[in-house]
Amino acid sequence: MSLNDLELMKNTLYSDFDNFWSYNVLKQELENDKTKYIIAKEKNEVVGFAGISVIFDEATLNNIVVKKSCRKRGIGGELLETLIDLCSDLKLKSFTLEVNVENTPAIKLYEKFGFKNLGIRKKYYNNSTDAYIMTKYDL
Ligand SMILES: CC(C)(COP(=O)(O)OP(=O)(O)OC[C@H]1O[C@@H](n2cnc3c(N)ncnc32)[C@H](O)[C@@H]1OP(=O)(O)O)[C@@H](O)C(=O)NCCC(=O)NCCS
Repeated sequence: MSLNDLELMKNTLYSDFDNFWSYNVLKQELENDKTKYIIAKEKNEVVGFAGISVIFDEATLNNIVVKKSCRKRGIGGELLETLIDLCSDLKLKSFTLEVNVENTPAIKLYEKFGFKNLGIRKKYYNNSTDAYIMTKYDL
């Protein structure tokens, strides 16, 4: 994802996507040299994006989101697979994420791509909902 991609999405970001970091945080993310963001495009329109932070030989998933009207068509899977391939190319040791225990679509997506539930962070979201910590080692 380039800053230009983000600017093109700016007006529809909040209506078309959900459960992602804000525009301002995404902008900072793109300016941070430890992060890598990718987009999925259809007919010149961004329909999904995802990003990781890389510290030493470990990746953390920062965001993965597909446009609401385009879900359940394989785009989230393609984004995640592309990030896994990137981790593999960078010869990273692990790929970790946190996910709300109530976010079944995301949990199923991560399980499908081999992430294992290795722990729980209590009251991680808004000091109320727990998060699973999921990690993939076979990169
Ligand atoms: C999670 C998300 C990225 C999945 O994107 P998607 O494009 O709809 O996912 P895909 O179509 O590629 O589905 C891949 C797998 O995810 C799982 N999955 C996706 N949506 C699901 C749903 N509604 N219910 C159950 N499993 C689901 C399935 O295992 C699916 O594989 P299958 O089609 O073989 O059953 C999407 O729902 C989203 O953007 N959610 C809001 C943002 C979010 O919560 N991100 C995660 C933050 S941790």
